[in-house]
Formats: sequence, C-alpha cells, structure tokens
Amino acid sequence: MRLESALRAPGVSEACSVRFSMGKNIRQKAVHIQKTRLLRASGFLAFLSFFILLATGCVEQSMPEPGEPQTHVYESKCGLCHKPFHPLVHTSVGWKNVVARMEKNAAEQGMVHFLNDEERGTILEYLTRHSRKGF
Ligand code: HEC
Repeated sequence: MRLESALRAPGVSEACSVRFSMGKNIRQKAVHIQKTRLLRASGFLAFLSFFILLATGCVEQSMPEPGEPQTHVYESKCGLCHKPFHPLVHTSVGWKNVVARMEKNAAEQGMVHFLNDEERGTILEYLTRHSRKGF
C-alpha cells in the first residue's frame, strides 16, 4: 500500500503506478479518458484563443466622429506619413507633445507649413476631446 502511494506521487511516471496497482485495467482506462479530455479541452482553448487574437488584432478601433469635418482634417493631415492613430493612444498632454514633434518631423522632411493655426487647433481639439483620460 505504501509502495503504491509512493509510486503515484507526482513526478513518478504513470506507467509505474499502473503496473504496480491492483485494478490495472480500470485505472488505465480512467487515466486515458482523463488525458483525452484534457487534451481536447486544451486544444479547443488554443483554437479559441487563436481566433480571439486574430479578431482583436485585425479589427481596428474606428475613429470617433466619423465623417465630420474635424475628423477629416485629422485623418488627412495626420495620416500623411502613417495611418492616423486612435485618439485613445495618448492623454491630452501627450497629444500636445506628439503634435509638436510631428510638426518637427514634417519640417525635417521638407513639408513647409504642414499645419496652419486653424488646422493645429482643430486637430488638438479633436484629439483632446477623445483622448485617454488621466495624466
Ligand atoms: C512627416 C511625416 C509625419 C506626419 C505628417 C505625421 N507623423 Fe506621426 N510619426 C512620424 C514619424 C516619422 C513617427 C515615428 C517617430 C516619432 O515618433 O517621432 C511618427 C509617430 C507617430 C506616433 C507614434 C509615436 C508616439 O509618440 O505615440 C503618433 C501617435 C503620431 N505619429 C501621431 C501623429 C499626429 C497626431 C500627426 C498629425 C498632427 C502626425 N503623426 C503626423 C511622421 C509623421
């Protein structure tokens, strides 16, 4: 009895504990069923998480206020060099810094007068309104 339980201790291979125990067939069957269930469950979970990742990775969050003039200014100006980022990516303070840096990026690439005062105001207002809250 003590031998059997020692052999069934974690880390000891299943084959050993099955070979030494009495109800050999039943236990083997039980272990087998348990294993297949576990395999099936984990396979299903892997399958599921693959699709969840695929779905969340591919579906982009849509821009707020679609089709509005301010959205158009933002998307056309800030989508010149890369896809326009979603406003939730930064806080309002963050956006102020980013827009200033982007104006430098634009100037470095020879884009003179990338934004006029009105466009800058519109873009910052739009981004701030939908920005991530907090500091
Ligand atoms: C002249 C091309 C150009 C334009 C126009 C431009 N960007 Fe960028 N943007 C870049 C480059 C280059 C990077 C990567 C280097 C960097 O972060 O400065 C970048 C990176 C970013 C990032 C990711 C980095 C971060 O700090 O989160 C954001 C957000 C961003 N741009 C927002 C904007 C916004 C908002 C506008 C419009 C005001 C804009 N971009 C216009 C070139 C541009």
